[in-house]
Amino acid sequence: MKAVAVILLTLVISAFGIELHCKLPETDIPQRWRSMHSECINKMRSQVQEELTAAMTYLAMGTHFLQDSVNRPGFAKFFLESASEEREHAMKIIQYLLMRGELTSEIGSLIRDPRPVETQWFSGVDALKSALELETNVTNKIRDIVIICEEPKIEPKFNDYHLVDWMTGEFLEEQYKGQRDLAGKISTLGKMMKEHGELGEFLFDKRMLKGEA
Ligand SMILES: *[C@@H]1O[C@H](CO)[C@@H](O)[C@H](O)[C@H]1NC(C)=O
Ligand SMILES: [Fe+2]
Repeated sequence: MKAVAVILLTLVISAFGIELHCKLPETDIPQRWRSMHSECINKMRSQVQEELTAAMTYLAMGTHFLQDSVNRPGFAKFFLESASEEREHAMKIIQYLLMRGELTSEIGSLIRDPRPVETQWFSGVDALKSALELETNVTNKIRDIVIICEEPKIEPKFNDYHLVDWMTGEFLEEQYKGQRDLAGKISTLGKMMKEHGELGEFLFDKRMLKGEA
């Protein structure tokens, strides 16, 4: 029955030359509520790239520790979890831009080929130090966002209070906690390896697997 109806409808449409419009005309939405400054928008857009690059770097790190020749499942678990968190950070910034009405086009330039910043690590300590350096770089990028969004160079009086507060309270907070966690891990692992060499790394890996390091 349905098939017959569809065929009939198609015939009617073609016979009478009715044009089907699938695209609704765009609504004329007032634009004044979109208050973000272009400099600030650009900084936020590049932060999406930064977070995705961090995600890819941690994905590479996690995979490195899963190789049969390396075989450190605790390190792998830790770095793969970090990779997921970084992806979530990218998503949070995308959602923020959507909320402010500042993400209406150019998705392609926002989400494009991020690559890991490194793909080779020589030990657990080496990877943790590299992660701390990566996070330090990300923290500096977030500070740059705060500086620009608080006082855009072209329009210094435009303080984007909400964004600055959000980036400071949510992102910087997490950066500082994450950096402290990495520094603590480097310290403990360093001490364990000083006494026990490779066995120290092996034991530390076991603790990371249980989420106890
Ligand atoms: C951190 O930033 C410095 C300076 O820009 C750069 O040389 C280094 O490769 C970066 N490191 C990581 C792990 O992102
Ligand atoms: Fe992040």
